Amino acid sequence: MGSMLQYGSLAKYYDMIYSFKDYEKESRIIATLANRYKKSTGNELLDVGCGTGKHIVYLKKWFACTGIDKSEYMLRVARRQVDGVRFVRGDMARFEMRKKFDVIVSLFSVIGYTETHQNLALALNNLSRHLKSGGVLIIEPWFTKAAWKSGSVHMHTYETNDVKIARVGFSGTDGSVSVLDEHYLIAEKGKGIKHFRDVQRLGLFGRAETLALMRAAGLRAMYAKRSLAPGRGLYIGVKERDLDPA
Ligand SMILES: C[S@@+](CC[C@H](N)C(=O)[O-])C[C@H]1O[C@@H](n2cnc3c(N)ncnc32)[C@H](O)[C@@H]1O
Repeated sequence: MGSMLQYGSLAKYYDMIYSFKDYEKESRIIATLANRYKKSTGNELLDVGCGTGKHIVYLKKWFACTGIDKSEYMLRVARRQVDGVRFVRGDMARFEMRKKFDVIVSLFSVIGYTETHQNLALALNNLSRHLKSGGVLIIEPWFTKAAWKSGSVHMHTYETNDVKIARVGFSGTDGSVSVLDEHYLIAEKGKGIKHFRDVQRLGLFGRAETLALMRAAGLRAMYAKRSLAPGRGLYIGVKERDLDPA
């Protein structure tokens, strides 16, 4: 695994770095799709890889939300940001909750962190296991191998009077895994300047590969062109049969 600093010591800057994202609009799209496809009658929602809880800020208007994430640093920010929601620590491929949900979402590429085909299968099985019969799973994917622009470079900046952030990155590939090598320079008024290097590895899974694994996990699965981020699409799965009744 990469250093994943972004979800460690960089967690407190996460919402600044991604301040360009319209979480409210994304949440409205997700709620509409969830209600369109869901056959179960409840409104319990689990956000897997919830990060700092920015979708839950909005989703909690319509659903009884729980957030789960691997990073305690991200969860700390989420707990400060959102009142009255349970945020728990767990790995998407392995977590165990004594509860099933009507809606499970995993947004902004979290699924890519499974890295390997085998781990992706484990995660999809685990998510399906936590869905009620008729419940819906919505996944916003990472890039496919065909769409990944290996060798490309990128830069992103954020600034207020008190904070200046510059992130410069190189997009590499290691077999079927994308490797994001990112360097951050963060200057804070009255404090000084810090430099971090963050290397992240995300699996480049195919569309047919993901849909086949969703189906094997007991889901009626489809790929929808409707996107949160341009061109990425969404996977939607409806739980057909309970492979592991509680
Ligand atoms: C790009 S952020 C997305 C956060 C949030 N969903 C959003 O839209 O802002 C990826 C998140 O996935 C979490 N993550 C990475 N690997 C994970 C795993 N195996 N299980 C659960 N969460 C994981 C990270 O800690 C991080 O919070």
